[in-house]
Amino acid sequence: MMAEDIANTPASAAAAGGGSGIDLQALLRDTDVQGVLDQLDRELIGLKPVKRRIREIASFLLVSKARKQLGLEAAPPSLHMCFTGNPGTGKTTVATRMADILHRLGYVRKGHLVTVTRDDLVGQYIGHTAPKTKEILKRAMGGVLFIDEAYYLYRPENERDYGQEAIEILLQAMENHRDDLVVILAGYKDRMDTFFKANAGMASRIAHHIDFPDYDEAELLAIAQLMLEQMNYHLDDDGQVAMRDYIARRIRQPNFANARSIRNALDRARLRQASRLFSSERIVDADMLSALSAEDLRASRVFQDATDGPHDKGDGR
Ligand SMILES: Nc1ncnc2c1ncn2[C@@H]1O[C@H](COP(=O)(O)OP(=O)(O)OP(=O)(O)O)[C@@H](O)[C@H]1O
Ligand SMILES: [Mg+2]
Repeated sequence: MMAEDIANTPASAAAAGGGSGIDLQALLRDTDVQGVLDQLDRELIGLKPVKRRIREIASFLLVSKARKQLGLEAAPPSLHMCFTGNPGTGKTTVATRMADILHRLGYVRKGHLVTVTRDDLVGQYIGHTAPKTKEILKRAMGGVLFIDEAYYLYRPENERDYGQEAIEILLQAMENHRDDLVVILAGYKDRMDTFFKANAGMASRIAHHIDFPDYDEAELLAIAQLMLEQMNYHLDDDGQVAMRDYIARRIRQPNFANARSIRNALDRARLRQASRLFSSERIVDADMLSALSAEDLRASRVFQDATDGPHDKGDGR
């Protein structure tokens, strides 16, 4: 709301020393995009290249906005994006922030994120796909449509697959509503590359490709600490060591999902902490209630089997 006001009134076309100049810093401040970028820096560990790209895109949008105000260009910039990376690397989280930035800069009316997968778009029977896809598009209008594992829309092995129909409707909307709908495709990098090779129309409409790297062990520990801090928990001294050990093992096991595995591990550790407190304490203080200790982590199955068998179907319980 505010973003639009500022963008559309000549008020921010402040005279920067006479003439009709636009103060870019003022525009940045007024739209509070800086606030979102700072929050991104604070709340997400690592992801340096991702943060850099988001800043670049934000600058580009600010400049586009300024150009428009000075009558330099009519066509809105192309904003459809592709986020590639392994599970749990922060794609959904960053997409939410991106939607917020786009909204603050007036590129979408509402700034909400609608997350879907193939099943939300594609029907089982003839005639079912178009209404499903259109319904989702209607919901996403004014915001960001986030399509997780987008490559499942395309199934070349089945020549009458309805996914193709969904892709065509999406392409049309991406072109015709580019001033009020941003589509972000997400998924594994190699599969997305294959998808783009087979879908030139989609490839040509994606302006920004952002790759999310896996986290290293130090980043995963920092992520654990940040998550705990946000939940008003912390690791005690032995707990820190145990968490480090946990990460070193978990990272090598099947189904490892970066920050998501950390969140799951912490959820289970909190359950164990609660049982431990119940069975061993009567009177508890705030510190006892918020401290996770080594045993809360070391009871995990991750520590039980040195051979790392493939029996671990879940998330490293
Ligand atoms: N860099 C980070 N710092 C702190 N927390 C993070 C970071 N990256 C991800 N998280 C947290 O990890 C969880 C998983 O992140 P998110 O859902 O954004 O990942 P994703 O790439 O979309 O994963 P998936 O492929 O499983 O959907 C969320 O709770 C998120 O807040
Ligand atoms: Mg996700």
